[in-house]
Amino acid sequence: MSLARTAITTNRLVLRPTSGADVGRALEIQSDWEVTRMLRMASFPPDRQAICDWFGDHQREWCAGEAYRFAVEVEGRMAGLVDIDEIAGSEGDLGYWFEKAAWGHGYAFEAAQAVVGFALENVGLSTLKSGHAADNPASGRILTKLGFTPAGTIELFSRSRGENIQQCRYALMSAR
Ligand SMILES: CC(C)(COP(=O)(O)OP(=O)(O)OC[C@H]1O[C@@H](n2cnc3c(N)ncnc32)[C@H](O)[C@@H]1OP(=O)(O)O)[C@@H](O)C(=O)NCCC(=O)NCCS
Repeated sequence: MSLARTAITTNRLVLRPTSGADVGRALEIQSDWEVTRMLRMASFPPDRQAICDWFGDHQREWCAGEAYRFAVEVEGRMAGLVDIDEIAGSEGDLGYWFEKAAWGHGYAFEAAQAVVGFALENVGLSTLKSGHAADNPASGRILTKLGFTPAGTIELFSRSRGENIQQCRYALMSAR
């Protein structure tokens, strides 16, 4: 049985399952090179049809247990997205991106912490993985604060940058 598509509320944020209505904000946010250069799988400039298709598949992914993606709202406006994807067996991969105007307030950490809890407790995953470009120390700080531990560096192709990057990998095991 699939998990109910319900929202998570934190002190300052509402994390709700994404919907097709989020495409416009996602396009606005990913039109900022400072955001999209850190997203290895994203196109730059963003491709409206690809983003539409991506959001259009989120409900199916959720119901199939393939990925859980949350739009993060600050005072009722979508400021970013946190997701768990690449779910295979008891493992999944944590990702997040926020508009630049929302950086520096601890929102990314607060939202990611809630989604990590959801993944371990509600979904029942036992291992989470994540990774960030070597020139993205803010993301590394978030992962370390969440309890992730470094798991080496690999070279991967970044679609947004059109070149290979060094990606720092991390893992978090459930305490249970
Ligand atoms: C990565 C991202 C989500 C961080 O957002 P944010 O709002 O700055 O995150 P938070 O405020 O929750 O936490 C950032 C932490 O990194 C620290 N930090 C910020 N810039 C840093 C830097 N250059 N070097 C080291 N630490 C840094 C902050 O001080 C904070 O740590 P603290 O809480 O101990 O003070 C945001 O920059 C973003 O969306 N970037 C584009 C997309 C992206 O990079 N996604 C992740 C892909 S791996």
